[in-house]
Amino acid sequence: MSIIIAGTGSYLPERVVTNAEFETFLDTSDEWIVARTGMKERRVTSGEPSWKMGELAARKALDAAGIAPEELDLIICTTVTPDYLFPSCACMIQGAIGARGAFAFDAAAACAGSVYGIDMARRYLATGDINTVLLVGAETLSQVANYEDRGSCILFSDGAGAAVIKRGDGPYGSCLRSDASGAHQLYCKHIRKDTPFYKSDAPFDGGLFEAELVGTTYMNGQEVYKFATAAMPEAVIGACERAGFAPETLDMVVPHQANLRILETAAKRLKLPMEKISVTIHKYGNNSSASVLIGLDECIREGKIKEGHRVSLVGFGAGLTYGAAAFEYHSK
Ligand code: COA
Repeated sequence: MSIIIAGTGSYLPERVVTNAEFETFLDTSDEWIVARTGMKERRVTSGEPSWKMGELAARKALDAAGIAPEELDLIICTTVTPDYLFPSCACMIQGAIGARGAFAFDAAAACAGSVYGIDMARRYLATGDINTVLLVGAETLSQVANYEDRGSCILFSDGAGAAVIKRGDGPYGSCLRSDASGAHQLYCKHIRKDTPFYKSDAPFDGGLFEAELVGTTYMNGQEVYKFATAAMPEAVIGACERAGFAPETLDMVVPHQANLRILETAAKRLKLPMEKISVTIHKYGNNSSASVLIGLDECIREGKIKEGHRVSLVGFGAGLTYGAAAFEYHSK
């Protein structure tokens, strides 16, 4: 059983942050950022919460699919920057779009989230119990970036992507992996308050990780880079194997956007030209689980992904998590 991607949508905040803006408060330069990451600018929220961006992307995906919110059975939101611990971002989106018949929950796998989400949607659909899933990746990473760390804050951005997924036929394969041996290379500790029973200096608090930044991202760029350049091709090759076709026959790969150099290295390993790799990093930066769905939406709307094309979606990120799905794209 495969999937149909009945419609996609995305939302990017209007606020554009150029590399030059980082020069005003960090020892950095446009030349360095472009050369080392491929990023020229990124979109950053000036107030829109994750759930609102998710709602706006979801509305576009529903329009594209020609599906009413009431027809949705399940909403999965893959955010790691929810606005509330509870209710879930997925429930906020459900309420906003009026999807009264759907159950909704968040599923976090950091920047691999939307790929895990695609696979989870397919498995729910395979049971036959439900027919229509809305998958949303909505993130406000700018809110948890460390603006004193020039090696990481320049990367992170905001946005949302969405897809309406139904049951389909044809080849499908996935390869999902987690490797917690690298958990300490990329993390953001959740805010906790002292209570009459809990003190933040108590033993076992945090101890796993070197830097105790609360609500702020820590990243070991070089280690994450090494991981990502190996993980991305491994996942795509694994997914293609299970789908029953060779990676070289892919028409389009839609990867998570973390660094243009990571994408170029992976393209070489996959023996694919860069025209077959979706790139949005120069304009949108790294918006975690939103990036693959935003890339997918752009590729479909721009005609780079057409009916019957062999497509692979691939993500990698904190956890460490990585994974890919490979399938033939059909919208009906
Ligand atoms: N501007 C200018 N110089 C910077 C800089 C910046 N924004 N950030 C780091 N540097 C400096 C470093 O301090 C270092 O200086 P030094 O040699 O004097 O010590 C030098 O540039 C090289 O640093 P390094 O960390 O080796 O750079 P890099 O080539 O590895 O690029 C990243 C840094 C973060 C762009 C790169 O490692 C990367 O993309 N990693 C993966 C990140 C990722 O994918 N994260 C998300 C996963 S979902």
